[in-house]
Amino acid sequence: MREVLSSDIALLDGFNRSVLGRPGKMVRPALSLLSADIAGEISDLSISVAAAAELLHNATLMHDDVVDGAAERRGLPTAMSIMGPSAAVLMGDYWLVKAVNCLIGAGSGEVLLVRLFARTLSDLAEGELLQMQKAESLDTLEEDYLRIIYCKTASLFELAARCGAISAGASPEKEEALAAFGRNVGLAFQIRDDILDYEGGAIGKPSHIDLQERKITLPFLLSDGSDGLRGELRRGNIDKVYDGVVAGGGIDRAYERIRVYIDAAVASLSILPEGAKRDRLVAIADYIADRKL
Ligand code: IPE
Ligand code: IPE
Ligand code: MG
Ligand code: MG
Repeated sequence: MREVLSSDIALLDGFNRSVLGRPGKMVRPALSLLSADIAGEISDLSISVAAAAELLHNATLMHDDVVDGAAERRGLPTAMSIMGPSAAVLMGDYWLVKAVNCLIGAGSGEVLLVRLFARTLSDLAEGELLQMQKAESLDTLEEDYLRIIYCKTASLFELAARCGAISAGASPEKEEALAAFGRNVGLAFQIRDDILDYEGGAIGKPSHIDLQERKITLPFLLSDGSDGLRGELRRGNIDKVYDGVVAGGGIDRAYERIRVYIDAAVASLSILPEGAKRDRLVAIADYIADRKL
């Protein structure tokens, strides 16, 4: 990542260094590399794919923070809040194109990888836009929610795992198993994120913000009396809605749903050899189920 990001524009280079100096959890590149490791062997191509996934992720966060007007990320002020939306969008564009640079010239099969990345990028944009549309209409159903979280989050987890597998020359069967693992872990990851918004605490970004942004997420949808809560949300009684979701059992039911996706993720690994490599993937899945950050 450091290699492809250097620039002689001081504003850009300084920003890039500050982001690289304060990385996030790096879950997506971990998925790429562990997928490559179990499917064959970690190659230079695996490393390019892992870097590309994390670069793309960071680019979408820079853009997302503009979309959401977010003040804080990873415990620090966002590019958006320091430099304003125009610079933050351009920084995101720069990171995005550097992700593509990582794939171009990375070796055999690069066209396939670029095509897969392009599809995920359109999923990400569609997910954000569907979420915006639903914030307007407030008629989100569970199937809409699942489509949104697949598009905006799980598609990138799926991509990271799939491309990791491809980079190690995985058989089609192993590639699909690892892609399914990534997809299910990604769905669980976003549900956990949506619960964290309700629970609050020191997560390095603002909490209790989803309802202010009119985002209806799984705890809300699974809560008793969610139809009544929709009316409260329309009237802007946000505190009432938070309390109603907690009292209505929405958080507990969302936790149960996380378990379902984590179990599905682990089950999809059954065709892969048992051992330390598989255990590491299972450990990631378990970590995601109750991550605190
Ligand atoms: C944040 O992703 C965006 C979501 C999909 C919820 P992460 O929680 O992986 O962000 P970092 O990279 O660790 O900061
Ligand atoms: C982030 O979405 C996922 C992206 C597609 C970038 P959110 O807006 O739900 O996530 P946070 O809370 O800002 O990390
Ligand atoms: Mg967002
Ligand atoms: Mg956001």
